[in-house]
Amino acid sequence: MSTTIQRQASLSKDVQRFLDAPLHRAYVGGRWVEAADGATFEVRDPGSSDKIATVTSLKEADVNKAVDVAVEAFHRSGWSKMPVNERAAVLHRIADTVEAKLSQFAQIESLDCGKIYAQAVADVQNVIDTFRYFADLAQTVNYRSVIAVKHHEAWVARHPWGACGFIIPWNFPFLLAGWGLAPALAAGNTCVLKPAEDTPLSALYLCHVIHEQGLLPAGVLNVVTGLGETAGAAVSRNPKFKRMSFTGSPEIGRLVAEACGRNLIPVKCELGGKGAAVVFNDVDIAEASKKLVQAITFHAGQVCCDATRWLIQKDIYGEFVDACVSQMSAVQVGYPMDEETQMGPLVSEKQRSRVLSYLKKGVAGGADLVLEGGVAEVPGRNGYYVKPALMAGSLDNVAAREEIFGPVAYLAPFTNEDEGIRLANDTDYGLGNSVWSSDLARCSRVAEAFESGNGWINAHNVVVHGVPYGGIGKSGMGGGVVSPETLNDYLRPISVVRPL
Ligand code: NAI
Ligand code: MG
Repeated sequence: MSTTIQRQASLSKDVQRFLDAPLHRAYVGGRWVEAADGATFEVRDPGSSDKIATVTSLKEADVNKAVDVAVEAFHRSGWSKMPVNERAAVLHRIADTVEAKLSQFAQIESLDCGKIYAQAVADVQNVIDTFRYFADLAQTVNYRSVIAVKHHEAWVARHPWGACGFIIPWNFPFLLAGWGLAPALAAGNTCVLKPAEDTPLSALYLCHVIHEQGLLPAGVLNVVTGLGETAGAAVSRNPKFKRMSFTGSPEIGRLVAEACGRNLIPVKCELGGKGAAVVFNDVDIAEASKKLVQAITFHAGQVCCDATRWLIQKDIYGEFVDACVSQMSAVQVGYPMDEETQMGPLVSEKQRSRVLSYLKKGVAGGADLVLEGGVAEVPGRNGYYVKPALMAGSLDNVAAREEIFGPVAYLAPFTNEDEGIRLANDTDYGLGNSVWSSDLARCSRVAEAFESGNGWINAHNVVVHGVPYGGIGKSGMGGGVVSPETLNDYLRPISVVRPL
């Protein structure tokens, strides 16, 4: 009881009003809709395990209606035919509206996925920046490029595709909604977004503010709430989409890609990772260890591009591990909206069991627990908390090979540059690796030698608007996010040719 009172005291009136709704409906065609069978699911605050919302659980027929609405809106709402500068102005207005409600969005996000408040603020700011980035970029695209060829008049025209589907996970619910929706909308497409069932609230709140301000024609943005195996699967199977984007686990990514393959719908998958940090003996040990500890405890390690294998050059191994242990034991685990908290809970009991199970499996497979981890107690809060953990040993260990998705790093020594690169690349994943050294020539060499979508130097988890970000192998396929290439993915090229 006291938990609820403390939480409510800190929430803005807007957010309280939003949360007080007895039922959070899906948003389709500019209307709030329920499932035909009336089904719902519950959403909890990971920091307290209290129920915070009841949400409509759509089934396949409901989702299919939403896709029909998005197809219809593509052809008839005027959105796809709107001059690009007018569409860009709408996207800027969306960014302005989100900015005006930044703290409300951040409170909802923090409460919904257990992200500490400062990180939730950063995520909301990222969404604002993403809308502005693609709004501006869309005005620089060459929508009609003439090709000089002998005896022909020829050009390539670029048009929006149609209705696009998005299935997103619970670790960065609002940020990933922005990364998906902004480029697709900027290019003139219509969207159907399926948020994760753990964290549907920020996407619904976005619909609320867009609806209130009348920013988009009805049917251009649709949010279909529901469970993965029903609503998510229905999105993935619908043949009327022109493009699909999935972010989440490789297991479900495969299912979505298979379903899209059957319909020959281009699909972009952003999946998990098992990133390495390759740390050379010439680093500032205190600084590098601090940054890696910050990276692995950032959103409690529920970050796909995180560094989870820390490869340390042999001669500094002992000293580096000691520095990591002392930094990591000092991380303050607590309720996400408490100011002094440095690391919040995991998103769900299911995710906590997964993380704890990897600690057990790792030890059973011969790994050392250098820093024990395990369940963390936060007084007065019955949330899904764990302590950060460090493991060490053979890189063949299950905890060194599989994605854990929690605040757990695996340490191992390496001798020279070649071995560091080889160990970093010895994984099925290929998202983000980092190299740490004061020798910048070596850093450039090693970063380029990584077999992954991204190579970072003296930093980890660096995603910047304008720089392509995507994965290879088990980490993803079909293109990346936040760069000019992404906008291009949402434009359909047509070659027009006239023999002269
Ligand atoms: P998931 O892959 O099951 O969920 C991601 C999204 O897919 C959610 O919206 C979910 O509703 C939807 N989904 C689930 N089943 C579906 C289906 N059959 N067809 C279509 N959509 C479906 O991820 P989950 O189970 O929540 O997490 C498991 C593990 O996946 C995590 O421990 C982590 O290792 C990894 N993961 C990676 C993420 C990333 O950012 N790359 C994000 C979330 C999870
Ligand atoms: Mg799942």
